Amino acid sequence: MSHDWDLATRLVHGGAMRSQFGETCEPLFLTQGFVYASAEEAAARFAGEAEGYVYSRYGNPTVAMFEERMALLEGAEAARATASGMAAVTAALVATLKAGDHVVASGALFGGCRYVVETYLPRFGVETTLVDGTDLDAWREAVRPNTRAFFMETPTNPTLALVDLEGVAKIRDEAAPDALILVDNVFATPLWQHPLKLGADVVIYSATKHIDGQGRCLGGVILSSAAWIKDNLDVILKQTGPALSPFNAWMLLKSLETLPLRIRAQTDTAEAIAEALATHDNIGQVIYPGSPDHPQAEIAKRQMERGGTLVAFSVKGGKAAAFAAANALELIKLSNNLGDAKSLITHPATTTHKNLAQEARDALGIDDGLLRLSVGLESPSDLIADLTQALDKAKSAGKLRTV
Ligand SMILES: Cc1ncc(COP(=O)(O)O)c(C=O)c1O
Repeated sequence: MSHDWDLATRLVHGGAMRSQFGETCEPLFLTQGFVYASAEEAAARFAGEAEGYVYSRYGNPTVAMFEERMALLEGAEAARATASGMAAVTAALVATLKAGDHVVASGALFGGCRYVVETYLPRFGVETTLVDGTDLDAWREAVRPNTRAFFMETPTNPTLALVDLEGVAKIRDEAAPDALILVDNVFATPLWQHPLKLGADVVIYSATKHIDGQGRCLGGVILSSAAWIKDNLDVILKQTGPALSPFNAWMLLKSLETLPLRIRAQTDTAEAIAEALATHDNIGQVIYPGSPDHPQAEIAKRQMERGGTLVAFSVKGGKAAAFAAANALELIKLSNNLGDAKSLITHPATTTHKNLAQEARDALGIDDGLLRLSVGLESPSDLIADLTQALDKAKSAGKLRTV
């Protein structure tokens, strides 16, 4: 399939393979292994001298269709799928680093990613420095002679702060040319931010989020150059086994057909919600990367096509008011997940980021009134009405409590 087709076309047809039955819908090869016509053929495949699958931990046709479609979406030379986003992050870092190397990472990472970088990698002799990702000087100052990786997510979870990707790429080029830049692009989505074009070497997704987009299955994807994948990643995936199930690959493959429609609609609604919340008198601050008043609006404009599907906002009155608002929602569901067709809201300080010390939460701007909303596919006016009535109720609850 040509990389020249428009995105919508690539996401419907890209990577598709047909069996001898000529099915319209991509086939699901729910198999562990593959049979060979002869012992010679088996030997040739194991020797890498003949094309063909060997075992689904190494590769599977349905998983390969998903990988090819993801590579076409991202404009990457190649992609490899994994069983979850965390499997993808861990495999990508392990494929990049070895004992004695140093990684610089933004402190504002999803909890699992932060654990791998801060706690797990040092157990194997990898040095880690966590920096304020919004401060380019901090990235530069953290570089050591043995720095081999820069790792970040942008926008960050849950405060939607941004890392200037071109700025970090410049630092890498000048101060650590042997280091790779790995970007967890989950919050931006593959539609609105293209890290490979901004200087990154490896892009990682939790496919669990917008790529599935319907709250059904876990998955992960790593995208990079064909050479890096062949020389560094493939052996890790093959020998450690975080393989994506063909069934999940089939669901994710089919989800890619509707990804642009879903993300565009969710982004339109997120913009409308950010605008509506900004005028509510029970809100302290609304954070949305697509808003002109985002603290890093200039970076957002430079590196993101649109602001994405997540909105964060701080309810006046701290934790009690945020809980009251969340509990008063009738349509929006309480869940720590994101990227779903259903709108989901979470209170980061007591859920996704509860393991961080208060000091670390303060440094990241995760105050007790903060709620993170993942905007779904419901009617924008229904969502705004639900948020408005919940915030109104939280306000009167707050007033009652203070009397
Ligand atoms: C930014 C980010 N990266 C990675 C992950 C991990 O993905 P998974 O849950 O698919 O392992 C998540 C999950 O919430 C996430 O939000």
